[in-house]
Amino acid sequence: MKHLLKLMDLGAKEITDLLNLADQLKFERKNGIEHPHLKGKTLGMIFTKASTRTRVSFEVGMYQLGGNALFLSGADMQIGRGEPAEDTARVLSKYLDGIMIRTFKQEEVEKLAAFGTIPVINGLTDYCHPCQVLADLMTIREFLGSFRGKKVCYVGDGNNMANSLIAGCIKMGMDIAIACPKGYEPDPELVKWGHEQGKLTITDDIKAAAENASVMYTDVWASMGQEAEREKRMKDFGGFCIDSTLMKYAAKNAIVLHCLPAHRGEEISAEILEAHAKEIFEQAENRLHAQKAVMVELMADKKI
Ligand code: CP
Ligand code: NVA
Repeated sequence: MKHLLKLMDLGAKEITDLLNLADQLKFERKNGIEHPHLKGKTLGMIFTKASTRTRVSFEVGMYQLGGNALFLSGADMQIGRGEPAEDTARVLSKYLDGIMIRTFKQEEVEKLAAFGTIPVINGLTDYCHPCQVLADLMTIREFLGSFRGKKVCYVGDGNNMANSLIAGCIKMGMDIAIACPKGYEPDPELVKWGHEQGKLTITDDIKAAAENASVMYTDVWASMGQEAEREKRMKDFGGFCIDSTLMKYAAKNAIVLHCLPAHRGEEISAEILEAHAKEIFEQAENRLHAQKAVMVELMADKKI
């Protein structure tokens, strides 16, 4: 593994190894065992979109690993004024040991990786959110014990989260049902791949999607960059909500996950969010451990 650009680039074994390392780092952290595997290394974090979890968990994670993290606002960098990603990548490779980037186009992330000489980690694009889904998989395994035979139901927009969940859940052997309004389906290539694996259902029937699911998952109806569509989306997504009525169709003891930030009363009811706060905020915590595993795997001098 040289970069983390999207989950489709990883095999099941690579994902499992990352999750095992994340569990180990979490255990060490909880037990006061220091792990300065990235001592003296610097991660540059480029953000052209807002963030709470990604920014803080990467920065703290790097600190806990003995390294340093630099917050680089895309708007304040020359890349925000049109300097090509090809040049930015080659310059940053001279100073840094790794780059984490959150931006709009997946292409920009792929270009940084192609032209630089240091690992690039995708911290969210319009296409996917691989760091989030590694933390989600870690959380699912933590709460349910294993992936085998489990069904995940995702309710809402066929966006970056839906795309990464299709890749991550199917690679780990789970079934996934996506319930979205017509016209808001996930990436067509991923949908084709999911169907070929025989593990994916796409439907606009939320109850059918929730039937017997062990994991109920949702994300916002309007993602960052879609602010102008918000009004139309509020109408189109009406009813695509995880609430107590929908939870009746899920498996007994199903967990509820949300990548956050959440919009109570839209994609999730306040009641269900609070009832499942235990797993939702553990999921947020697991961003830290999962990303530390990614950084160790990509940036440490020797295998851990
Ligand atoms: N889930 C997530 O990526 O959160 P932030 O946008 O706060 O980083
Ligand atoms: N789909 C959301 C995820 C936020 C973590 C967005 O892109 O805004």
